[in-house]
Amino acid sequence: MNTLFDPIKIGDITLANRIVMAPLTRNRAIEGNKPGPLTVEYYRQRASAGLIVAEASPISPTAQGYLDTPGIWSAEQVEAWKAVTGAVHAEGGKIVLQIWHVGRISHTSLLPAGEVPVSSTDKAADASTFTRDGFIPVSKPRALRDDEIPALIDDYRRAARNAIGAGFDGVEIHAANTYLIEQFLRDSVNERSGPYGGSVENRARLLLEVTNAVIAEIGAGRTGIRLSPMTTFTAPRDSNPQATYGYVVDQLAPLGLAYLHMIEGETGGTREPEGAPAFDYAALRSRFPGAWMVNNGYTKELGKQAVSDRLADLVAYGRPFISNPDLVRRLRDGAPLNELRADKLYGGGAEGYTDYPALAA
Ligand code: PHB
Repeated sequence: MNTLFDPIKIGDITLANRIVMAPLTRNRAIEGNKPGPLTVEYYRQRASAGLIVAEASPISPTAQGYLDTPGIWSAEQVEAWKAVTGAVHAEGGKIVLQIWHVGRISHTSLLPAGEVPVSSTDKAADASTFTRDGFIPVSKPRALRDDEIPALIDDYRRAARNAIGAGFDGVEIHAANTYLIEQFLRDSVNERSGPYGGSVENRARLLLEVTNAVIAEIGAGRTGIRLSPMTTFTAPRDSNPQATYGYVVDQLAPLGLAYLHMIEGETGGTREPEGAPAFDYAALRSRFPGAWMVNNGYTKELGKQAVSDRLADLVAYGRPFISNPDLVRRLRDGAPLNELRADKLYGGGAEGYTDYPALAA
């Protein structure tokens, strides 16, 4: 029977254990949307994770929606990320990059002059984002034209190529948390007609075209995907999440992906509240032959149970990895966990970022 601490090969990537550091937005990028020296240290400290999924990184200047997130579109960003991947590899770790387009969850002040956020729709989300002026409502987007989609897919392709050039072991396509790909996938947001709207086949088309482009660029064995069927983070649920996400998983199943990553329930690290609508994650898992990563509010006990019950191959931990750089050791040894400083999650410097203590050697 497998445990959290056993190695596993997922696609082309061999992991020392099944404990994954979830992607976490920390808003500490330096000038030029590059990871700086503190970010190198932050990931180096956490390299004992079986896999690090590095924070969501915009694929183009138009893809960003929050202040000071590190990008993966420019040559300078690729150079800066090399220090991160080099540090993690030197410690024996593995690291993939989450590639991101926020869609309508953005503000004009975060975008190149004159640009507005793009989405499947021209309706604004009921959401805020963090800018130089603090938290403010997101801008009204414009709906992408169908003839703009090929260039968008090229941005994903370039991001994947850049990530490999920067030394990442692969990429995770961010198709979760109601960002651009889910703004197409969900009928609660997507009111388009034409090839990218209407039927589930059409609403899933962008996700599948992006996936196939990334696979063509870097190989399926280095490509993972993150989904969040039930989150209402910045948009309502699809009218039939089980059918919509079931279709997506059926389409992804034969592609040979490194893994599928499921956020179970609401974004943000807590288990589903009592009375939340049911979703049968196990039904999706039974239809996917590759590695299955679960996330959201897992404790050590729940993670162990999920792996031993074969409900998961990998368990991603978010907040526990922020406050415990040596989380793998602490889980293995049953050591107490550090308290999270929730006021230091977004932006700032070393405090609440690289200053959480590890256990003494
Ligand atoms: C956030 O910045 O709050 C954020 C970013 C990416 C996610 C979820 C949340 O996937």
